[in-house]
Amino acid sequence: MGMLDVTALEIAEPTWPTPGTARQRLMRAVVLTIGLVTCAFSLKAETASETQLEAPYDLSVNEGRRSPVGFHDATPSFSWKIRDSREGAAQTAYQLRVISQSDVGSQLLWDSGTVPSAQSVYVPYEGMPLKSRQRIEWMVRYWDQDGTSSPWSSAASLEMGLLAHSDWEAQWIGPNPDDFAGKDDERPAIYLRKSLHLDEVPPSARLYFTAKGLVDFSINGSPVTDDAFQPGWTNYNARIDVSTYDVTGLLKEGENVLTARIADGWYSGTISERFYGQRPQLLAQLEIASVNGGVEQTVATDNTWTYSINGPIIMSDLYHGEDYDARREMPGWDTPGYKSDGMYRPVTVANIDHAVKLSPKRFQTVRPIQTLKAKTFKRHPDGKLIYDLGQNMTGWIRINLPAVEGQKVTIRMAEMLQKDGSLYRANYRTARSMATYIPSEDGMVDYTQSFTYFGFRYVELSGYDVTATPAKEWVEGIVLHTDSPRTGYFESSHEKLNKLYSNIVWGQRGNFLDIPTDCPQRDERWGWTGDIQVFTPMALYNFDVHALLASYLDTMASEMGADGSVPAVVPQAHLSIFGNSAGWGDAAFIIPWQLYLRTGDVDVLREFYPMMKRRLHYYSNKARNNLVDEPRSFADWLQPRRYGDTVVGWDERSGETSTYLIASSYYGHGARLLSQASEVLGYTADAENYLNLSKKISQAISSTFFDSRGRVTEGQETQTAYILPLAFGLIEDDVRAKAVERLEERIEKDGGRLNTGFLGTSLLVSTLEEHGLLKQAIGVLFTSEYPGWFYSIDQGATTIWERWNSYSKETGFGDASMNSFNHYAYGAVGSFLTERIAGLAPVAEKPGYAQILIRPILSDDLPLDHASAALETRYGTAANKWRKVSGGWEVTTLIPPNATGKIVLDRSGNDIRILRGNLSFTERDKRSVAEVGAGTFKYLVVNEKQNHQ
Ligand code: BGC
Repeated sequence: MGMLDVTALEIAEPTWPTPGTARQRLMRAVVLTIGLVTCAFSLKAETASETQLEAPYDLSVNEGRRSPVGFHDATPSFSWKIRDSREGAAQTAYQLRVISQSDVGSQLLWDSGTVPSAQSVYVPYEGMPLKSRQRIEWMVRYWDQDGTSSPWSSAASLEMGLLAHSDWEAQWIGPNPDDFAGKDDERPAIYLRKSLHLDEVPPSARLYFTAKGLVDFSINGSPVTDDAFQPGWTNYNARIDVSTYDVTGLLKEGENVLTARIADGWYSGTISERFYGQRPQLLAQLEIASVNGGVEQTVATDNTWTYSINGPIIMSDLYHGEDYDARREMPGWDTPGYKSDGMYRPVTVANIDHAVKLSPKRFQTVRPIQTLKAKTFKRHPDGKLIYDLGQNMTGWIRINLPAVEGQKVTIRMAEMLQKDGSLYRANYRTARSMATYIPSEDGMVDYTQSFTYFGFRYVELSGYDVTATPAKEWVEGIVLHTDSPRTGYFESSHEKLNKLYSNIVWGQRGNFLDIPTDCPQRDERWGWTGDIQVFTPMALYNFDVHALLASYLDTMASEMGADGSVPAVVPQAHLSIFGNSAGWGDAAFIIPWQLYLRTGDVDVLREFYPMMKRRLHYYSNKARNNLVDEPRSFADWLQPRRYGDTVVGWDERSGETSTYLIASSYYGHGARLLSQASEVLGYTADAENYLNLSKKISQAISSTFFDSRGRVTEGQETQTAYILPLAFGLIEDDVRAKAVERLEERIEKDGGRLNTGFLGTSLLVSTLEEHGLLKQAIGVLFTSEYPGWFYSIDQGATTIWERWNSYSKETGFGDASMNSFNHYAYGAVGSFLTERIAGLAPVAEKPGYAQILIRPILSDDLPLDHASAALETRYGTAANKWRKVSGGWEVTTLIPPNATGKIVLDRSGNDIRILRGNLSFTERDKRSVAEVGAGTFKYLVVNEKQNHQ
């Protein structure tokens, strides 16, 4: 597909394109033509043979979804990529065709005609809105800069889910409430079944299902999917997501059995303290088509289904793990012909609640993504085996080992080991984090959990057959996360910097499990808004989490108070007390803006604009003289070193930066973002008002919080007190330079080390560099001393930690009451690696990498010989790499077709030699700027110093 190979390597080199010979291009065209002929909707073959352009590829709808089944949006938008390695390759026009497909035929729904436009992303569908269940295929062709047309793309498909409650015949079904009375700890999974008779194998069938809780579904004993943790975690009081699968191949003539297992999960488990409900429930609808098209038969959850709570999963909970008793397995329960002998009882039913929206799932599900083999194992003196997977990860543990009938195998895990080699589990707090398995016979056991997950690197086994010789293969880690495509890469000559980037990516893998969580292991795993607020830019670089974040924002909007208050945790579960923290609740305007900036998706900005506005008005209503305080804030959470005994915010972990300064800075930042968003959406009056407001806030911040020497006067003079207003552009010209000097002094007094918490750290390095403090930025980033990113790497980190010293070789473990070894927040610094060190960044004026800003730091101060970043954008692969060569730095820039690049170098034009590509630099404010179209460009940036040596 021309995309990066995202499967294996942490760092992938982009495939630097070679123009290809005319013959190769012709061959590709021939292959395409053959493809088109076999295509369901055949088009006039006029174009393919006449031109040498390639067809558009990687077709996607809305937020990067590829041929989705069970789609949510009746008026989708379309995106495609162009493959053309010629310099300046661009689209000047396109044509889209949308065909409605049914079992009986196809029909043209919409033809855009030839549209003279460069737009190749999010092109709106303008045909009749799509209906529930409707299937379409769509294809596109384009015209290039010379007016040559491409062949048609191959067809991409899309199938709508159930859009309205009136599509549902099903009722919620579940166990009898009495079954769960008093069952607070031992919460079994619920096994549900229904048989049905089919006279013949249906031509097609769809299964729509969801749960209050977690569900997996089988038909005739075959799992419908290996997607996990469905339906995911939303605000179940407002929206519950529905999954759709094509199950045609699973049905047969005669008796068929539908079975589902449901468990508490986020809905009624300890993670939400059963805030949403007391017991899990299932909603499902199987729709079987007739040979003449249309739905012939619907089998829905209703009072004819039966259930049992006496199956093998005797306990299941996200925090506590799972207990499985194989002696309670019910052989044949999920296949035809099963005699339940009274074990299955009729379910209780409830009608669909129309206040809660049933919505086709908008984004990818959680899935088992990769398997980690154990690297080593040891027998502990107490006989237990301890396996090391070599990587802190999130997911399941698969055991495949010899066991003895009736003898419980216990699986425990930990992120770290104690000095004596035993598990360090204190940081799991009240999460039991354990799985047990009781075999029904002697022999090999192959077991993986279902409705729970763990955060761990080490696995401890006991209860296995001690007469057997232990083997490495007994344990595997199954990495679970939302199946968002991997998009971004970073690589450099600096080993620790690469390790840092790898740790950041693993932190993301471990914490994007349907929602963005703070950590995957202890009794939290919640969607803390502050954490994702700071990590969003990096998250959107590493993986395409566009759709996931849009869904998360939808949940946030549903939980926002009428006054614009935002829970600190979304979905808020039972945690409503943690409302309104500055820097946390501001996720409501920061994430929509970042989504827009990094994806170019205006629809998403429009969708969440009312939420952004409400959040800003929350501040406006409280503000006095354009400043606002939010005293109950988490503030600059976990500032590592104290300057005094100042207490701000929730408690002493909230750092020492004034909450007044923090809240006012986010207020100003919000006003600025709102003004930009208003402008994008064409709300000119709003744009002006918010801009004026942001200016007033900036004046108020400058005159109230800083003295004439630029020193922070509000609260403690912390690094963050300078960083936030500087990063957000809220210090007036006359004070700014002085404030930067004071910040420089602050850093020096702090020994050149960082001393920032969750809010300051995410902006520290980039803000220092942006304000001319490159040496300081390098100092805080490239140190192995505490506190700093490399410090934890030297202590063995394979993920980002919650605290810089969560563990140290010298002093052991930090305070176990809050000591996560997989917390992505500090990984926000990764954006500095990709955007400034390697030099590949988005541009607000042409968002979504329609224009790519190439602005690498080329400096002898940087302890690197080379660095590169590669990103799969909606236009194709963009990349930038540089390496030191004799005389300077050789930079290679790759701009994908139909995008443009803006190369900005802090050098005069005389110092730049063009090695490849047609580009010329012009000098602006001591910088050289070149605007380029698509293509590969190579240039040498002369190192003056080297040449004078
Ligand atoms: C979480 C954080 C969160 C914080 C609020 C912690 O317990 O793990 O990541 O943002 O509380 O200050």
